[in-house]
Amino acid sequence: MSHDRVLIFGATSAIAQATARRLARPGVSFHLVARDAAKLEAVRADLAARGCGAVSVAVSDLDQLERHASLIDEADRAMGGIDAAIVAQGTLSDQAACEADFARTAAEMRTNFIAPASLLADLANRFAARGSGTLVGISSVAGDRARRSNYVYATAKGALSLFLAGLRVRLREKGVRVVTVKPGFVDTPMTARFRKGVLWASPDRVARGIVRAMERGGAEVYLPWFWRPIMFVIRHLPESIFARLKI
Ligand SMILES: NC(=O)c1ccc[n+]([C@@H]2O[C@H](COP(=O)([O-])OP(=O)(O)OC[C@H]3O[C@@H](n4cnc5c(N)ncnc54)[C@H](OP(=O)(O)O)[C@@H]3O)[C@@H](O)[C@H]2O)c1
Repeated sequence: MSHDRVLIFGATSAIAQATARRLARPGVSFHLVARDAAKLEAVRADLAARGCGAVSVAVSDLDQLERHASLIDEADRAMGGIDAAIVAQGTLSDQAACEADFARTAAEMRTNFIAPASLLADLANRFAARGSGTLVGISSVAGDRARRSNYVYATAKGALSLFLAGLRVRLREKGVRVVTVKPGFVDTPMTARFRKGVLWASPDRVARGIVRAMERGGAEVYLPWFWRPIMFVIRHLPESIFARLKI
């Protein structure tokens, strides 16, 4: 499947930027959407300097669901069609603040689940009608099991993983590819305050896995690969033992 016209939501994300750099080559055009105009311009200029096709941009806070359809229309017009769309935006929720105030929990659900699902739902209908396209959603290993320390983020990402799985089974006979990306710990601005260790990966390592899955039609990819067996064990631990781990 060709990926010559790539739409990226949350394009200033470190993982999205690394993925765009790996996809960039002559003839590939991008339409980048992010909320911070200055950061977005830096990403646009970096990609344009790599000798790919046209790079167009749109500034938008993606929590504003009512703008989603027109953002996709704009991308379609700018590139003359969309071959692949990557939905990358996300925030690492402040669990304590969410516990204290459910409005914060609802806001995190909007950013990490409702807004990505809204974009994916619209794109899915357009791709299904056309009978082609690749949809990529960046979820997380966190969504595989709710931990006491981050169950709000985990709930949103778990819902996003389920939504992507549903889209995939719905669209498999329509010629549309749906890739669920489940990164583990990645060294990006989102995790800047954490101490790094052996399980940590660079955005570029994760980007390599994303591009491979897009090209080969991977369904659900754990990145790096070792998170698949780790999460298999974590998912299957009895809750009585899991709760005692205090993670
Ligand atoms: N880093 C990890 O360990 C890790 C692990 C698993 C999954 N992930 C997921 O990977 C994806 C990319 O994150 P990252 O690690 O690359 O971190 P990042 O560099 O901090 O990227 C997060 C991006 O989301 C954007 N964003 C957040 N809310 C937005 C909104 N309302 N409207 C538009 N853009 C919004 C941010 O924009 P601003 O720059 O303007 O804030 C930023 O570009 C996220 O979905 C994240 O949950 C990350």
